[in-house]
Amino acid sequence: MSSIAVLGYGVVGSGVVELFYKNKESIIAKAGTDVDIKYILDIRDFPDSPYKDKFVKDIDVILNDKDVTVVAECMGGVSFAYKFVKACLEKGKSVSTSNKELVAAKGAELLSLAKANSCNFFFEASVGGAIPIIRPLHKCLAANDITGVAGILNGTTNFILGKMINENMGFSAALKMAQELGYAEKDPTADVEGHDACRKICILSSLICGRHVYPENVYTKGISDISLEDVRYAEKFGCAVKLIASMKKLADGRILPMVMPMLVPHDLLLARVDDVFNAVLVCGDGIDKAMFYGRGAGMLPTASAVLGDVIEEIKCGKCTDISQTWEDSADPSFVAGHEESINKIYFRISKTDDIGIKAIEVIDDSDDMVFVTGPMTLLDAENLGRKLSESGVNVKAMIPVLDI
Ligand code: HSE
Repeated sequence: MSSIAVLGYGVVGSGVVELFYKNKESIIAKAGTDVDIKYILDIRDFPDSPYKDKFVKDIDVILNDKDVTVVAECMGGVSFAYKFVKACLEKGKSVSTSNKELVAAKGAELLSLAKANSCNFFFEASVGGAIPIIRPLHKCLAANDITGVAGILNGTTNFILGKMINENMGFSAALKMAQELGYAEKDPTADVEGHDACRKICILSSLICGRHVYPENVYTKGISDISLEDVRYAEKFGCAVKLIASMKKLADGRILPMVMPMLVPHDLLLARVDDVFNAVLVCGDGIDKAMFYGRGAGMLPTASAVLGDVIEEIKCGKCTDISQTWEDSADPSFVAGHEESINKIYFRISKTDDIGIKAIEVIDDSDDMVFVTGPMTLLDAENLGRKLSESGVNVKAMIPVLDI
């Protein structure tokens, strides 16, 4: 018999409880042993909940109960989640989490703690919501040298961009809708400014290169500067504007992770990922390319990934999964800056005749003109933008074109 504790009864935690009881019989069959949720930790009261007898407010109740072998952390944030997860792992209780902020900030330490205490720290739900990507990367694709990944890893921004493009909905209305649907973070600036996608690409990069990649070392730009004008021009070029989180291995062995809005050519499947869906394109020397696609946020999609890990942890027992790991890394010199990325660049500038630049596209009712450069480093692109500004040209947008 395995007893589970769920930490946090918000969108994800309540989804975990709901999905568990919906599919309890098949979960037990897959885990190979009797399983039940014994505790739900939350500081709030839920007197009308059918699970009201399971609620506790004190983590020590869970920590001191030997029956609890697996804990699903669904609280979010780092401070309390870190303290509680650490305490669970120190007691030899495996943890499954959807908390990307926690994994991106403390992953190396918590993985090493799990190993030292013969248990597991799993986080399939932390990247891509329902999409299986963590386990495929370190198991099914383990024979490959993974050379790069590019993904749409934030459902909220993809949902907002889609509403803006397809329904002409304003940014704020689209964001409000994403919040009501339970997609957005508590503070949606983490979605809009790209920090959530950054945490997720850090997790994938750490897993791929075996060293902890910290968010502060990864260039991150969100979607707040994207205008409908850019979206319309992008369509003229056969591209969609998407918030792309990517990582490339460079020839010298360093990695180049970054998060920024990009023009994605329509012939790439990523361009057609809409709504709250996420997708991750993985490049490897054996597979060439593989694409993973599914719902990137929401109650039951995320709960599905958390519970998948819980079942796996019950099956693993006291055996730590050694392929899902990475080392801590105080020296960030293995992480290259975004300036080294080589892309074609889309520029939108105010209409002008006198700088010798031939606009390749002008939309009739637009005051602007746009051009797309050949491949250049982002450093050269930034210098070009600066020179144009110095010569009196109003540079309104500069967006790289995805090349993978
Ligand atoms: N706020 C996140 C998103 C939730 O929109 O993708 C899932 O991590």
